[in-house]
Amino acid sequence: MNLTYDKLQDLERRLGDSWYILDLDRFVANYNDFLAAFRKYYPNTQIAYSYKTNYTPLLGKTVNELGGYAEVVSEMEYLLAIDIGVQPENIIVNGPYKPYRALELYLESGSVVVLDSYQEYKDTIQIAKSNHGKPLRVGLRCNFPLSGYPNSRFGFDINNPKFYDIARELSLNNNIVLEGIHSHFPYRDVNTFYERVERMFEVYDNVSEFCDLKFIDMGSGLGGRTSDELVKLLGIKKVDYQDYADVVAHQFQKRFGAGEQAPQLIMEPGTALVADTMSYICKVIEIKKVGDSNIAITSGSKVNYHSRTSKLNMPIQVYSDGHQASDHLDSADISGYTCMEEDYIYRAYQGNLKIGDYIRVDNVGSYSIVFKPPFINPNVPIIAYSKGSYDVIKEAEDFEYVFQLYKRKTK
Ligand SMILES: Cc1ncc(COP(=O)(O)O)c(C=O)c1O
Repeated sequence: MNLTYDKLQDLERRLGDSWYILDLDRFVANYNDFLAAFRKYYPNTQIAYSYKTNYTPLLGKTVNELGGYAEVVSEMEYLLAIDIGVQPENIIVNGPYKPYRALELYLESGSVVVLDSYQEYKDTIQIAKSNHGKPLRVGLRCNFPLSGYPNSRFGFDINNPKFYDIARELSLNNNIVLEGIHSHFPYRDVNTFYERVERMFEVYDNVSEFCDLKFIDMGSGLGGRTSDELVKLLGIKKVDYQDYADVVAHQFQKRFGAGEQAPQLIMEPGTALVADTMSYICKVIEIKKVGDSNIAITSGSKVNYHSRTSKLNMPIQVYSDGHQASDHLDSADISGYTCMEEDYIYRAYQGNLKIGDYIRVDNVGSYSIVFKPPFINPNVPIIAYSKGSYDVIKEAEDFEYVFQLYKRKTK
């Protein structure tokens, strides 16, 4: 995707003065590279794309067309997956809140439901009673301590004997199929995966004494592809898919080989696939002086991509009309449209800047649009880039969109 000032000006005529661009070609490349890195060691690997990270329907649809699964954590996400054509069998339902009616829907439709609590286990037994002869597919979310990190609040404590009682009960039930075990931790450190895999193999071995499991789902907490600049800024180690595959898929290969009996390895990347596929564009609308400071006001805001307005100076690119002179600024604070004092897109910018310039922020694909509240302004459109063309895939939100559900007419 090669953006120029002229291209951005052209897009502004269609979209207004701020928007997101989703690079679909990059997303497809990420998906294929991720899978290839894992399948090199362990062919029986499958991706279940995490909808919560970025539920843009085009992404779920693309994953489905590429043969991947959907990983969802709410009825809203589930209905989206169904709506865009994902077969229920290819949906994995996670999460700690599954209302009874929704749980019924997932199970009766043939999706895999990863149970997170005793209440969900009891509800599943109840649902099985009214579904004689229909196999209901379940998994169990495993919770175990991970060295150096606080306890997770999700799933079943595998060190509590009740966990294996439940696994046994599920496997004995005539119309419940215990298909797999699942774990997820948000920590992106590759080294944590040694311990995660080791614990999950222990659980697999124990459960295998009474039940044939079809899959081991290792969740995510996988870092995305990041520029050197961002890696430096975040103070993290640069990792690629291969680094995770070298630990996770390699361990699976060593443990199970590639035989017929090898359980499926499911990975649930969100961030790793989508973070670097989205950019946010906004425009400088004013540059003013306050005391000694230069303040550039823009049509954008940090709430569009950083829900909790972190102080991070995300790297930016400035696109200028080359035909007009620009002032060099030794320091400018590039700010957002909200009324929060801390809403700065970039602090202490050094370089040329003028009214009418476009600001591009990359790496905003993960937990950005899904966390964007209609705070002060409704959200802006999303455009997808693929094979040289740009298509609008989400219209701009507007007044009606935000206020349609409020009772607002005076009598
Ligand atoms: C169960 C589960 N799977 C996958 C993900 C996606 O995580 P990430 O953004 O690290 O890829 C999450 C995120 O919270 C999750 O809870």
